[in-house]
Amino acid sequence: MKASYHWWQTDVVYQIYPRSFQDSNGDGIGDLPGIRQRLDYLQWLGIDAIWLSPIFPSPMADFGYDVANYVDVDPMFGTLAELDQLVSEAHQRGMRVLLDLVPNHSSDEHPWFVAARSSRDNPYRDWYIWRDPAPDGGPPNNWLSHFGGPAWSLDHTTGQYYLHLFDPKQADLNWRNPAVRQAIYDAMRFWFARGIDGFRIDVIWMLIKHPDLPDNPPDPQWKPGQPEQHRLLRRHDQHQPEVHAIIREMRMVADEYQDRVLIGEIYLPIDDLVAYYGENLDGVHLPFNFNLVTLGEWNAHAIRELVEHYERALPPGGWPNWVLGNHDQPRIASRLGQPMARLAQMLLLTLRGTPTLYYGDELGMEDVPIPAELVVDPQGIRTPGHGRDPERTPMQWDATPGAGFTTGTPWLPIAADYATRNVTRQQDDPQSMLVLTHHLLELRQASAALNRGSYATVATSEPDLFAYLRRAGGEQILVILNMGATPVTLDLSSVGPTGTIAASTGMQRTGHVTLDAIMLDAVEGLVIAIDEE
Ligand code: NOJ
Repeated sequence: MKASYHWWQTDVVYQIYPRSFQDSNGDGIGDLPGIRQRLDYLQWLGIDAIWLSPIFPSPMADFGYDVANYVDVDPMFGTLAELDQLVSEAHQRGMRVLLDLVPNHSSDEHPWFVAARSSRDNPYRDWYIWRDPAPDGGPPNNWLSHFGGPAWSLDHTTGQYYLHLFDPKQADLNWRNPAVRQAIYDAMRFWFARGIDGFRIDVIWMLIKHPDLPDNPPDPQWKPGQPEQHRLLRRHDQHQPEVHAIIREMRMVADEYQDRVLIGEIYLPIDDLVAYYGENLDGVHLPFNFNLVTLGEWNAHAIRELVEHYERALPPGGWPNWVLGNHDQPRIASRLGQPMARLAQMLLLTLRGTPTLYYGDELGMEDVPIPAELVVDPQGIRTPGHGRDPERTPMQWDATPGAGFTTGTPWLPIAADYATRNVTRQQDDPQSMLVLTHHLLELRQASAALNRGSYATVATSEPDLFAYLRRAGGEQILVILNMGATPVTLDLSSVGPTGTIAASTGMQRTGHVTLDAIMLDAVEGLVIAIDEE
């Protein structure tokens, strides 16, 4: 039965931010040999696929999302040979490795941009997006960088502005130029041929801009005091209809190889997001679904509506996926608090679709306050108070100085709670978040219903409750999440008379239950295997 599913449907993806996972040489920055040392851990945890945020040569203006060479490894992280070794060891364990493709922009230090800015008639000029200054000498239009400030910088030598939707050191490539497309496709082939199993593709929905670069209209929701870059609607600099033809081309490149995957980074509401599966499922395999991250209010009603909306909107054959956190978002445990983060983990690992876990969330790692003088994230520098360093701090492995992450000085401060919140400590604690995550992953792997079964909401009259049934063959798994602050007792005998507790968020409940009077504590979740009648 499993053979009819692709690995990227049945596996769980774990995002590693390489700078922060494991340092092997004492320079305070994580690296590839470090990741290799931790494969045992990942395997124990129950991870089948790892995605590495960029490891390519880069001036690190945006910590690798400013690529200066698409087909090599930055010496800070190791060598190409060390990457090959990591991939081969992961493969031996049945684990897949995904890299992060950053096609929207390159570093301004990439030889393509260096050539492009050297003169207006350089053959690489048209690989980027250049415009004359506005009549007043200012930028060609009103577009804003996601990090803050204008999305245009003036190149004094040639007298034109170049576009950068992010940092000035991240120049947007011109995807209307076929040579650019081929160059990136060749980079994809380079990695596929080396055995890379797929790519997470950075800001894929921004790849192509409106051909006339019109001004963006104001966002009526924006209020003074909010970051300036949210003042305008991003109508003309993202989500253009032509992007789908480009994604189809990328998909064709992936399809030249056996069983590879493309995961697109796309922050869009569900009805827009699902278009990225492609009209004939010829888009990305998984358009990242960040709707649990962007959800305004975290409550049972909003989450049920979201899940049902998503299930309805998916195109036939489109495989769902869910995300709770990543290197751009405040950590889930900080957003929701520890008890609710456990519930969220149960939700993530029992919903239908491929889950992506962000490193450290399995420990309930929290955002680390970063003093102003230690802020290094370009967004945090340009838009104080909105930096992403807090969610990128070193993995907390053990209670030794350096948290088992480094013997040197870590590039970002280690969380104050590392001596108590760490892998070693939590592996020994049967009720820890880590053991809960491990248990849920094991359960998901062993259960066809959880792994690939159908989804159906179970109606209840309790407003703070979200319950659903996952089914495959004769197997039925009931998930009940009490998101409220008070205990509840409920009758779900419509689902079946009895069941066995397979997991509880507190990791302290086991045994048989009758479904006509199930008791849940405040902020408690249960996974119940329904007994066959
Ligand atoms: C999205 C990445 O996740 C983020 O970290 C980065 O800053 C921007 N894209 C620009 O590449």
